[in-house]
Amino acid sequence: MSNALATYRADFPALNEPMNGKRLAYMDSASSAQKPQVVIDAMNDVLTHSYANIHRGLYANSQTTTQLYEDVRVKLANFINANSENEIVFTRNSTEAMNLVAQSWARNILQAGDEIILTTMEHHANIVPWQILEEQIGIQLKVVPILEDGSLDFGAFMALLSSKTKLVTLVHISNSLGTVNPVRKIVKATKNFDENIICMIDGSQSAVHSKVDVQDLGCDFFALTGHKLYGPNGVGILWGKFDLLNSMPPFLGGGDMIETVSFDGTVYKAAPFKFEAGTPAIVEVIGLGAAIDYLNAIGMDAIAVHEKEMLNYMVQKLGTIEGLNFYGTAQEKAGIISFTADWAHISDIAMILDQQGVALRTGHHCCMPLMQELGIEGTARASIGLYTNKEDIDQLVSALEKAKEMLS
Ligand SMILES: Cc1ncc(COP(=O)(O)O)c(C=O)c1O
Repeated sequence: MSNALATYRADFPALNEPMNGKRLAYMDSASSAQKPQVVIDAMNDVLTHSYANIHRGLYANSQTTTQLYEDVRVKLANFINANSENEIVFTRNSTEAMNLVAQSWARNILQAGDEIILTTMEHHANIVPWQILEEQIGIQLKVVPILEDGSLDFGAFMALLSSKTKLVTLVHISNSLGTVNPVRKIVKATKNFDENIICMIDGSQSAVHSKVDVQDLGCDFFALTGHKLYGPNGVGILWGKFDLLNSMPPFLGGGDMIETVSFDGTVYKAAPFKFEAGTPAIVEVIGLGAAIDYLNAIGMDAIAVHEKEMLNYMVQKLGTIEGLNFYGTAQEKAGIISFTADWAHISDIAMILDQQGVALRTGHHCCMPLMQELGIEGTARASIGLYTNKEDIDQLVSALEKAKEMLS
C-alpha cells in the first residue's frame, strides 16, 4: 500500500520544486498540507470559465458556480457522514468554527459559573475563544491534564464532570503530540453523565488522517479546516446537529444570511445559511470539493494504513539518533512526532535542516499551555501527509545527523 501511495507525491506540484537547491522533504503537513494539481485546476477552472457570485444571480454563470459551491456542501456531509448537507456551515477555518460555537451557542446559553471542560493539549483555537467567553459572561474553564506518554488522563476527565458542566470540547488528534484522543469514549461518558452536555470536537488534524464519522462519534459539533485537508486556505467547516444549529442565533450579520430585512426587523435564513454572512470563499470551497474527491478516490482507510507505516518507520529511524527526547508516545498516535535534542536548540536544528531541503516546524505549535505543562519552550515537529514516503524520512534523518555533527 505504501508504495502505491508514495507515487501520489507526483500529484503535488510544490513537492517537486527544490528547496535551497535540494529535493524537498516536506514534513510540515500538520501545519498546512500541500495541494494536489486537481485542487489547483478546479480553482483555476471556475475562475477561468464560470466565476460569478453565488446564490444571487439568475444568469447561467452564477447558477453554475452556485451549483459547484453547493455540491461541496454535500461532498463534505458525505465525507464526515453528516445526516444532511444542511448541517455543514462553511467558515474561514476551524478557528472560526470554534469561535462561532462560543459566540453563537455558548454566549447565549451559558451563564456565570457554568463550566467548560477542555484539555491541556488544545490548540489555541480551542482555548482562546473560551477565555474570551470567560471574560464576557464569567464561565469557568476546567482543564483535563495529560499523562506522561501524552495521552489524556481519562480518570481526571471523569472527575471534572459535574452538574455545572455544559460543554466538553477537545481536540481529536493533538497537533503537537500526535495523540489520538478517545473522543467516542469521552462523548459517550459525557452523555451518560448528562445527555444535555454539548460535546465539540476539534477535528482539524483528525479528518486528514483517517475516516471521520460524526454520527458514530456521537458529538454535537465538529470543526475542520480545509488547508490541512489538501484544500486551499480560507475555508473550513463547522458541522453541527441540525436542530442545535438551527436553534442558534447568527454569528455574523449581513447579506446572504437573511430572508427579509426591514428597519422593523430582520428574518434570518435557516441553518446553515444563517451562519454564512457575506460573500463566502467561493473558489476556495470549490477547491476543497476537489480535495475531497481526490481523498475519496484514494480512500481514507488506505491513507491511514500508509501513514501508520510511515509513522512506524519514522519512529524507528529517529530512535537511532542519540540525544533526542520525544514528546507524545501514546499507543494511539497519528503521524506527528515532536522532539527536542540534548545537543542543540531546536531553532538551530531547523536552520540546518532547511539547508538540507527539510521543512519541519519548530516552536510551541499554538499549544503554549501544553508546552508549559511539559516544561519546555517548544519542540521540533515532523509531520506526515499522504504523500510522505521513506525517502522523505531518510532525508530528515540524515539532515538531523548532519545537524548533530555540526552542533554538538
Ligand atoms: C488541532 C488544531 N486545531 C485548530 C487549528 C487551527 O486551524 P486554522 O488555523 O486553520 O483555523 C489547528 C491548526 O494548526 C490545529 O492543528
